Amino acid sequence: MGVDELLVRRLVAGAVALVAGLALTTGMASAAPPPVVGGTDVPDGKYPFMVTLQYEPSGPTAYDRHFCGGTLIGPFAVLTAAHCVDGFPTEQLEDLSVIVGRTVLTNEGQGRIRNVSEIFVHPDYEPSAGAFVPDVAVLLLDEPVTDIAPVQLVTPGTDALERPGRQVTGIGWGNVVQQDPFPGGGVFVGPDRLQEVRVPIVSDDECQVSYEGAVVPEFEICAGRTGKDTCQGDSGGPLFAAVPNSTRVVQIGVTSWGVGCGAPGFPGVYSQLSHEDVGAFIAGPWFPA
Ligand code: ARG
Repeated sequence: MGVDELLVRRLVAGAVALVAGLALTTGMASAAPPPVVGGTDVPDGKYPFMVTLQYEPSGPTAYDRHFCGGTLIGPFAVLTAAHCVDGFPTEQLEDLSVIVGRTVLTNEGQGRIRNVSEIFVHPDYEPSAGAFVPDVAVLLLDEPVTDIAPVQLVTPGTDALERPGRQVTGIGWGNVVQQDPFPGGGVFVGPDRLQEVRVPIVSDDECQVSYEGAVVPEFEICAGRTGKDTCQGDSGGPLFAAVPNSTRVVQIGVTSWGVGCGAPGFPGVYSQLSHEDVGAFIAGPWFPA
């Protein structure tokens, strides 16, 4: 497989996430599920800043409607992956909503539901021009979420939390079934309860070996090991590091792409939030002074 094919896969991942939400469900069965891939159940309320992006036409329940993750970064703003929302038609914005602070998708008693009033994709993200980084976007909410604390974001320009080998955490409602890298597209099982998985950061050099140079190290972080990874449906959600001796976490990445899920030699790839340009974009005009 060459770089071209990797780029095609990125395009496909984006298009699928946008158009079909979780219609990534079909395809041939692949490897049996070992026991996000290799994760564990998240207790209610553990990550209140977590967001599910919801596409109303997909069905009647929040489980049906979930198509990507996100995080609350301010009362009016949700951070997600550009490929989750790029090209979403402005005239259909009423079909797009978010739920902040829910742990079990079908538990209607949990969380705050908001409509999305505007989508801001990072200006340098341009898949049609072959520019897949930075894979970040901010959604503006119609009403603020004032009773849930936003996630803390990594300080732009730093790299202390993304050293190779450090254990970090990915969370989401994405596929829990491990996926072979080739031909790709296997069984999809979406969990109702949020999952978390601990993954080690992979060095840029090692990640380039896996992906034949298709990773952009300035803008992307690789993390994962065999059987431990995020997967389809986790995109847009956070990769974060724990703050020692605290229940707080610092978000360092946004789930972006990978080949297979939890497959040997293919770690997950995450948008790198410590990049100065990304930090400047996220700081945006959406935080009331
Ligand atoms: N692009 C996927 C999505 O839209 C996320 C893929 C992450 N893959 C991985 N192996 N970590 O949900």
